[in-house]
Amino acid sequence: MNYNFDQIIDRSNTNALKKDGWREYIFKDPEGKKVFNFSDEEFIHMWVADMEFRTADEIIDAIKCRADHGIIGYTTVYNDDYPNAFASWCRRRYGFGFGREELCYSAGIIPALFELVGDICGPDDKVVFQTPSYGFFKHASTYNGREMLFNRMKYSGGRWEMNFDDLAEKCADPSAKLLVFCNPQNPTGRVWTEEELARVGQIAVDNDMYIISDEIHCDIQRSGVQHIPMARVMKDYPKMITCMSASKCFNIAGLQLANVIIRDPEIREKFRANDKLAGFLNPLSIAGMQAAYEHGEDWLRQMTEYVDENFRYVKSFLDENFPEVEFEIPDATYLAWVNFGKVLPAGTDVNDFFANNAGVLIEGGDALFVDNAEGFVRLNLAMPRSLIEEAMDRIADAIRRA
Ligand SMILES: Cc1ncc(COP(=O)(O)O)c(C=O)c1O
Repeated sequence: MNYNFDQIIDRSNTNALKKDGWREYIFKDPEGKKVFNFSDEEFIHMWVADMEFRTADEIIDAIKCRADHGIIGYTTVYNDDYPNAFASWCRRRYGFGFGREELCYSAGIIPALFELVGDICGPDDKVVFQTPSYGFFKHASTYNGREMLFNRMKYSGGRWEMNFDDLAEKCADPSAKLLVFCNPQNPTGRVWTEEELARVGQIAVDNDMYIISDEIHCDIQRSGVQHIPMARVMKDYPKMITCMSASKCFNIAGLQLANVIIRDPEIREKFRANDKLAGFLNPLSIAGMQAAYEHGEDWLRQMTEYVDENFRYVKSFLDENFPEVEFEIPDATYLAWVNFGKVLPAGTDVNDFFANNAGVLIEGGDALFVDNAEGFVRLNLAMPRSLIEEAMDRIADAIRRA
């Protein structure tokens, strides 16, 4: 089957965060008091990490089929169908296995992070993570009142590297109890090599820390790139937790279902006991995610090739028009992490600038990526190419006028 990723789908009146929630999320302006130079209909949305692509028909059909049963009662995972589908996906694609008793569920990785930080860290314990960072690593720590230590990644010539010396120093803090690790990394798109993963893991082992490896972006690699789960590298480490979901790469974040593999039985028990949904799951979500793992590979391959081409387009556009803008195509994610610092006046609020001068909604800077992100902008490239072409023209025009 050939899927159509050029199709433009209007998300109006679907209560979509991307279409209707940007004022609150990006500009902290839920009442819409801030006035913009563009009307709502004119904006191109390159912000939050969901796609503008229709998900795989196989997933939609499975959800319809489950709805057609006619009874949508209280549900969780009792039989082996869903865990078998997920386990087979992990084995086939990542050579990664886990004990079935370790597999827990959550209504998303965000709620899992909020829960796990509190389950693992006492009031005086600290959470370590790399910056720039996905904002919810910070929000989960703040929600639980836990102090954070930022391990600033190093940036040079368009490439982000782990700062191992600083990581070792931060983790040696006697209160550092939890490392929240992003593999592949959002927003930089870095895929970590086996050697890098082993070095990070050794630092956690040396300091007896728990690791949560958030691998939500693991299924979206550039063609030919291979994901390595941290738990595969840290084979028997008991303090290892892995979070995965088909939500990101199949554009089904609204189903709100995530897999959380917890090795430590004590933390696992706590996680289950503290689950505010009391273990219940949405039956339509189970059906949809199972179909993704069982029948989604062809869609995923075609989507990956389409997004690869979007990256090539943006890279050559920026190289031709703004050689001083630093950008390298990332190995993973559909997110371009671009340094516009050298073409915009110092101190520019990038979110405001691109919204008001280009009519393009993006996320950038420390306000949204915690720390170590000034001048950087994240462009979501999981959208029809015609929209990307228009967005890049508008961005170029805005920069030239700045
Ligand atoms: C690293 C990372 N973790 C978690 C999430 C969200 O997870 P969920 O939608 O399962 O709550 C995102 C979404 O962008 C993300 O980038």
